[in-house]
This record gives sequence, C-alpha cells and structure tokens, in this order.
Amino acid sequence: MNKAKVRVRVPASTANLGPGFDSLGMALNLYAWIEMSRSETTSIHLYGDHMDQVPTDKTNLIYKVAQMVFAEAEVECPDLEISVYSDIPLTRGLGSSASAIVGALAAANQLIGSPLSADKLFQMSSALEKHPDNVGASLFGGIIAAYWDGERAEYIKIEPKPNLKVLVAIPEFHLSTDKARKVLPDYVPLKDAVFNVSHTSLLVAALCSGRYDYIRHAMKDVLHQPYRAQLIPGMTTILDKATDFGALGVALSGAGPTLLALVDADSGHKSNLEHFLLETLQAEEVSARTMWLKPSLTGVEVLTSWDEQRSFLDNIIHGEMPPANKGESVGKMGGSY
Ligand code: HSE
Repeated sequence: MNKAKVRVRVPASTANLGPGFDSLGMALNLYAWIEMSRSETTSIHLYGDHMDQVPTDKTNLIYKVAQMVFAEAEVECPDLEISVYSDIPLTRGLGSSASAIVGALAAANQLIGSPLSADKLFQMSSALEKHPDNVGASLFGGIIAAYWDGERAEYIKIEPKPNLKVLVAIPEFHLSTDKARKVLPDYVPLKDAVFNVSHTSLLVAALCSGRYDYIRHAMKDVLHQPYRAQLIPGMTTILDKATDFGALGVALSGAGPTLLALVDADSGHKSNLEHFLLETLQAEEVSARTMWLKPSLTGVEVLTSWDEQRSFLDNIIHGEMPPANKGESVGKMGGSY
C-alpha cells in the first residue's frame, strides 16, 4: 500500500575493519533520519551540523536515489518533500554516503508500497557504491561479510557479542573516498594478497566465534592502510600502539580519516586509550574528537511510532528515539530489513 509520508532511521557504518578491504562492514549506533512524502514541488530540508555542503535541489543524493527506486518499480513520482537530520559526519570514513543511499532506497520503496525486496535494495546500493561493505552494514545492521563482483552482491551477517564497543577518533579534516582510493596501487604482490586473505579469514572466524583475543593480530592489513597513512598524520603510530593501550584491535575506519578501535567493554584502560588516540593526533596537529559507539544490531528501519503532532526534529529529539550519539542501545521501532 502506498504511504502518504514515511520516515526511516539508518545507521552509520565502518568499512574494512582493517584487512577486509571492500568486504567487511559494521553498522554503528550513530544515525540519520529521513522523512519523505510526495509533493507538488520538490523541497529538501536539511538539519544537523554536517549538512553545509549538501545540495537541496534535485542533485541531492537522496532525491536521486529515490528516483532510481521509482524507475526500477516503474512508478512516476517526480517531486518529493524530503527532510533529513543526521548525526553522521560527512567524508570522515563513517559511511555517510552509504547511509544516505540506503535511507533513500528504504524510504522511497516504503513510500510506494515496498515493491522492491531487501535483496534488490542491496544489489542497487552495492552497484551505486561499487563495494558492499558500508551499504550492507547500513541496510542489515551488525557485522557484514560481503562481496560485490560487479554484477551481484552477497552477504552474511554476523552478530557481535554484547561486550564489543567501538571507540572512534574523528579528525576535523575531510577526506573523500575518491582521494583515499587514488593513493592505492593497481597491483599488489602475491604475498600482500595472501597476508590480507589470511588475516581477513582469521578476523571473520574471531568475530563469529567470539575469540576477540585474536583480533589484535587479525585486524592487520597491508592492502590499503600503509598507502593511506600518508593522508592521515599519526595513523601509523595509532595502528602500531593502540593495542598497548587496551584496544582489542585498531584500524582506519573505511577510507578514513577516522580511526577506529574495537574495545572489550568489560576491560579497563578505556580512558588511557582515548587519551592515546587524541594525544597522538594532537602531536601531529590534527584536531579530533572521540566518540564511544556500539555496533548497531539493526540496519535501516521504517519508523512507525511517530507523533504526527510534533515536528520532524521534535520527534527525533523528544520522541521514542534515545539520543543516538550517546552510545545507548536502541530498540527496534518498526519494520526493518
Ligand atoms: N571499502 C571502502 C574503502 C570504504 O576503503 O575505500 C569507503 O567507502
């Protein structure tokens, strides 16, 4: 059934988890909300601190992706009213564009009565991003092991144990995925490929079995991080030493510049680790802030408990939803993929 107005909430994500380049992703409990309805003319309202450069005309990514859904479903819906609020920083390696794509796909599909399957949305989003790690995590939640071979994407979701926490150090500067991919070589030696295949295999096994004591070894990578280190001052020191300060393992988050440490919530050392990350970046004159997060076990969700008397922002701030960036667990609030 067609809906007059729909709202979705979509999580941020981290990609690669070190060696799983373009194939491992994890959803994080940092969110964006999208409201979408049909309209006589298109209007796009953006809220939050991260929206300065985002267009509000028909070049907007959410608008364009929604039109792809309508085209795929052979439905005409040229004009939309869209409101977006996001806590996800842009171009920092936390999957903001994947969240926008997944949120737009889910909202547009719901608006026209959900003719497209979750698998179809996964195929469309993987083809748009050209890798399935961020979009898979934002769509399905948890940890995603996935591939996209240029035609089809496949994935398996892994549920992290409840004690897995995530500390991110988010530098103030922006780094586009495009720029961070341009520093990578076209070819790598066989021994580097073997290094990453074996470490990714061990990492997936460690995450599935809960053998988090292996993560410190398994998160090592030679395929992309050593090349990207030139773009992120302090990164090499952090990758080398964060486990000495209590991290289970550490990696560049996606294409960066955010650095991400996995942490056992039951262990000590937490403030030591936070200080180490910030001081290492500060020593390189990189301003950054840290944020404690958790894996988001759910992916994009269609929100059903919405107070129509309240504004879009009021619903997010005062409604059922707990503040996403406080690292609290978030329950399910409607249909999810
Ligand atoms: N896997 C991607 C990369 C994630 O590392 O370039 C960024 O979107």
